Amino acid sequence: MSLREAAAAVRENAHAPYSNFKVGAAVRAASGAVYVGCNVENVAYPEGTCAEAGAIAAMVAAGETRLTEAYVIAGSPMPVTPCGGCRQKLAEFADAGVRVTMATTGGVEQAATVGELLPGVFNVAHMNS
Ligand code: THU
Repeated sequence: MSLREAAAAVRENAHAPYSNFKVGAAVRAASGAVYVGCNVENVAYPEGTCAEAGAIAAMVAAGETRLTEAYVIAGSPMPVTPCGGCRQKLAEFADAGVRVTMATTGGVEQAATVGELLPGVFNVAHMNS
C-alpha cells in the first residue's frame, strides 16, 4: 500500500465533528514500515490532535524514531500543510531533506522538505552551551 493510500484510508477514521475537516497522515519509518494517524478532535477544542501527531506517535510507540517520508491528505481545495506544531514534531524525527507530500483528496499534490517547512528549526544544538 502506498503512503497516499494509507493516509487516505486512515483519514476516513478521523474524529472531526467540530471542524468537519478530516485529515489523514502516513509516515514511512527507517525500517520501511508505514504508520498512520488521523486528526482526533475534542469538545474541549485545544485538546484535539493532528493527523501528523497521531502517525508520529504510532511510529514511536512501535519502537521507531526516524522517518524517511511523510504524506498528509485532506479534503481541501488546496494541499493541506502541517501546522507549526506538527512541523516541529516532524523535525524531531526526520532529517531536513525528508520529503513531505501534501495532498487533496481530489488528487492535487505538493511536496516540500522538512527543512523548507520549518527553516530555523529549534533543535538540540540550541541547548548545548
Ligand atoms: N489538522 C491536521 O490534522 N493536520 C494538518 O496538517 C492541519 C490541520 C486538523 C486539526 C483539526 O482537527 C482540523 O484539521 C482543523 O484545523
